[in-house]
Amino acid sequence: MPSLGVNIDHVATLRQARYRETPDNPNAEPDPVAAALIAEHAGAIGITAHLREDRRHMQDRDIFLLREKISTKLNLEMGVSEDILRIALQIRPEDVCLVPENRREVTTEGGLDCISHEQPLRVVVGRLRDSGTRVSLFIDAEPEQIRTAAALGAEFIELHTGAYANTSGADRESELEKLRHGASLAISLGLRVNAGHGLNYDNVRPVLSLPGLEELNIGHSIISRAVVVGLENAVREMSRIIATGQ
Ligand code: PXP
Repeated sequence: MPSLGVNIDHVATLRQARYRETPDNPNAEPDPVAAALIAEHAGAIGITAHLREDRRHMQDRDIFLLREKISTKLNLEMGVSEDILRIALQIRPEDVCLVPENRREVTTEGGLDCISHEQPLRVVVGRLRDSGTRVSLFIDAEPEQIRTAAALGAEFIELHTGAYANTSGADRESELEKLRHGASLAISLGLRVNAGHGLNYDNVRPVLSLPGLEELNIGHSIISRAVVVGLENAVREMSRIIATGQ
């Protein structure tokens, strides 16, 4: 049964919408660290946070505090950047998920291109692994990307489920099939498999049957539902769906 990692970036997005220019304002809220603790209490097996180069949501301080306060595990999402790598090597999260980063995108748009960025990725994967962090590469379910991820020495891939989530009908079925093939290939190459992006309370169920799937990282839909039902309920509900498939 896969487990749930909760991505709390959008708690920080809300805080930054009001307090970006006045981070020291004592009223600055909501606090992503408090949200992480609630998510853990409600059944998350890990907390995912993306420290972007433009610091549009999570701030360095949030990441340091998360590292100190959470009791499950920290999955730091990051682009291949020396600035963020320095922080990762300092705090040594249990997991790092390397993602492509583009300043104009609203969210991570596609998977990493491991083939074109093989050399810099090899260096970053090696430095993180040497520091004791497990590395995951966020990629599309393309066989060549998966083979390259394995050759780069990553322990995990995180399959990008955005294309699946953003289609419907026969197209969705075909995207799911690509994810299934990708997961099987990855497992056959000795990789471990996570998945995420665009998953919500309606579309997550079919993804649960991907071969070898260990963890789903879900953010936007959980934080959105939390606005209506509270974060604890939102995380519990997603955990229940993942645990029961119903
Ligand atoms: N996994 C990765 C690698 C991501 O970049 C994101 C978005 O930050 C997610 C999972 C979560 O996506 P969503 O917010 O759509 O659930």
